[in-house]
Amino acid sequence: MSTHIEAKKGEIAENVLLPGDPLRAKWIAENFLENSKLYNDVRGMLGYTGTFRGTPISVQGTGMGIPSALIYCNELIKDYGVKNLIRVGSAGSYQKDIKLRDIVIAMAASSTSGINNTRFINNDYSPTANFELFMKAASYAKENNIPIKAGNVLSCDEFYDDDIDSYKKWAQFGVLCVEMEAAGIYTIAAKYNVRALAVLTISDSLVTKETTSVVEREQSFDTMINIALHTLI
Ligand code: ADE
Repeated sequence: MSTHIEAKKGEIAENVLLPGDPLRAKWIAENFLENSKLYNDVRGMLGYTGTFRGTPISVQGTGMGIPSALIYCNELIKDYGVKNLIRVGSAGSYQKDIKLRDIVIAMAASSTSGINNTRFINNDYSPTANFELFMKAASYAKENNIPIKAGNVLSCDEFYDDDIDSYKKWAQFGVLCVEMEAAGIYTIAAKYNVRALAVLTISDSLVTKETTSVVEREQSFDTMINIALHTLI
């Protein structure tokens, strides 16, 4: 058991999907994995291990935001030997041509979080996706005619910004969308020499102010989970 995860050694696979919402973790385990077993419900942050086409896969809720996600990623890597981490989550579009339900793969993650300012005082660190995981995800999408967008995303600290137009600056510099965890996950994976990727589904648009319905979110979620699972096998 680690500080926030009650699994025994060996109960968590080397490959882990990371949804923010713990109930999504349950839903993924029940709908995509075979023989899944709950290994964690400390603080309701559900974690399951099962198999996908014979490969052991775990799925662990992270909560929202970099501080929460980093608690789970640190423990998964350091205490349970996890080697491949794929965030699966929603994001808000910053670009006119990135529409609701589109899939975005984060090649890099800019951030408003202080984690790397604290680490690299007055210097910029660029949290980036693992190249092999990125190539596998992009190839799977191409082979299965799933359109994807890929590029820089923003991992923000505050869901509710004081200034609703602040996204425009990031958009002008090519940032595709906003979410809340990728930059932290990419940074900690690099620190411990393991692999990380974030596959995102657009759930809302800062440009058009549209949002997806619950049903639409579930359907587009399926595509993202399939990309992530096929990247891990
Ligand atoms: N995740 C989904 N939509 C988001 C948004 N607009 N801001 C931050 N994270 C998000």
